[in-house]
Amino acid sequence: MDMEIFLDTAEIEEIDLFRDFIDGVTTNPSLMARSKFDNCDELIKAICGMVSGPVSVEVLSDDSDMMLEEGKRLSAIHGNVCVKLPCTLGGLRVCRQLSKIGIMTNLTLCFSSTQALLAAQCGATYVSPFIGRLDDVGHDGIGLVKEILEIYDACGYRTKVLSASVRNISHVIQSARLGAGAITMPAKILQQCFLHPLTDAGLETFRKDWNNRRTN
Ligand code: E4P
Repeated sequence: MDMEIFLDTAEIEEIDLFRDFIDGVTTNPSLMARSKFDNCDELIKAICGMVSGPVSVEVLSDDSDMMLEEGKRLSAIHGNVCVKLPCTLGGLRVCRQLSKIGIMTNLTLCFSSTQALLAAQCGATYVSPFIGRLDDVGHDGIGLVKEILEIYDACGYRTKVLSASVRNISHVIQSARLGAGAITMPAKILQQCFLHPLTDAGLETFRKDWNNRRTN
């Protein structure tokens, strides 16, 4: 099965640069706050118009009832909005309610396999283990992705594991090797996926050889 590739950004220019290579976009409140757009709804509409797949947008409310209303409102902006909810009791409760009415959900800030288990029980579309932030505090981010995938496989859950907080190419390769259903990465990491010094050196050699060819 294909691994979906999402860009972790709220920058229109970055999405435009990589739109041919991505299945969707993930945003978060920090990324939205840095965007040049003043109106969040307009920004969401603009992003949804640029990609054909899910665009994760996070709720800001703490209270479950308000989170539910916010989730429904976000989803009404565009059919591809995937409502991002925290892996908390409130977030999981809202996940169950939104899933029942067919709204896509992405359970974010997942740092344990029990949170991921509950996300799947609540019918989440995606669960996002934060690899880099776990590594930052001396834990094993990729180890968590592996554990969640094993649990989902053993129990037959359909929730997709979305590797998030990706900080380097190794996170990308290891997520793919493990069979993560999706990954989101910032533009600078996606950019690195295209690069290899031997490709550049080889191109340079080919160009030189062609330019120096005998013309008689
Ligand atoms: C995922 O959905 C988040 O937006 C993101 O991956 C967080 O990454 P960070 O830990 O680099 O902020």
